[in-house]
Amino acid sequence: MDLKLSGKRVLVTGGNSGLGAAMVRAFAAEKARVAINYVVHPELTEQLVGQMRAGGSDVLALDADVTQADAVRAMFQTLDGAWGGVDVLVNNAGIDGPRAMAWETDALVWNRVLQINLTGAFLCAREALKRMVAQRSGVIINTSSVHELIAWSGYSAYTASKAGLSMLSKTLAQEAGVYGVRVLCIAPGAIRTPINADVWRDAAGQQDLISKIAIGRVGEPEDVAGMAVVLASEVAGYVTGTSVFIDGGMTDYPAFSHGG
Ligand code: NAI
Ligand code: BGC
Repeated sequence: MDLKLSGKRVLVTGGNSGLGAAMVRAFAAEKARVAINYVVHPELTEQLVGQMRAGGSDVLALDADVTQADAVRAMFQTLDGAWGGVDVLVNNAGIDGPRAMAWETDALVWNRVLQINLTGAFLCAREALKRMVAQRSGVIINTSSVHELIAWSGYSAYTASKAGLSMLSKTLAQEAGVYGVRVLCIAPGAIRTPINADVWRDAAGQQDLISKIAIGRVGEPEDVAGMAVVLASEVAGYVTGTSVFIDGGMTDYPAFSHGG
């Protein structure tokens, strides 16, 4: 199926690692133009850009901390200069923060997680929407998590940020829908990336993860990237203001396949 993403201008935040890098590759495979936002590991970004260009893709690397409004504004202005705007924004940048009970959590840590995961997504969405509303088209995909729904002890800032992203997406979808702009969340389950490497690299940790997944395997970044590409395309032209769970059935609560 031709997803008709050829030539589309796509920006992926945190695009040099894990899910972001997989989405960069997946959009480029559909012949979209892809801008890779990053804030650390320029060497990983250069490597990815090199691979993409060698494959004939039109890619840009854009250094910006998504929590900084000025840096985000400048990043979109660079995109305006290079490609005349943006068609698809994937807000992917995120951290989970150190595991700690709320009563042991420093407010600075809480704020940092909220700033990156929620405020960063808002700042990027705001710049994207200025352009998308004016051009009467565009798609914003926010990366929430199964933890927009499932509580996660030790990660109150993370779960709050992801639940916040869900409602931010619904509200932006309501605001921008009549202007031809769709806004939605992808909500991944446990996907093998650096963010949870300490869990899946450990045999007991991996087994525990698998016991929480109905189809019995940890996800791969490509499981998420393929769905993101479809959701950004006109195939999903009637999908907005919702979260699409890509979780192998984690939200099907497989612990209830026994007992209860
Ligand atoms: P990752 O750690 O490989 O990637 C996170 C990316 O965000 C990195 O490129 C990092 O540099 C970037 N980033 C962090 N702070 C930033 C900032 N201030 N400005 C710009 N970029 C920044 O982890 P992963 O798994 O690829 O995470 C991507 C997103 O997916 C995150 O939002 C995460 O919460 C979400 N997610 C991941 C799941 C998983 O199981 N791997 C499941 C559900 C959601
Ligand atoms: C977290 C991962 C975790 C997954 C399932 C994601 O939001 O970033 O570390 O493995 O949820 O719990």
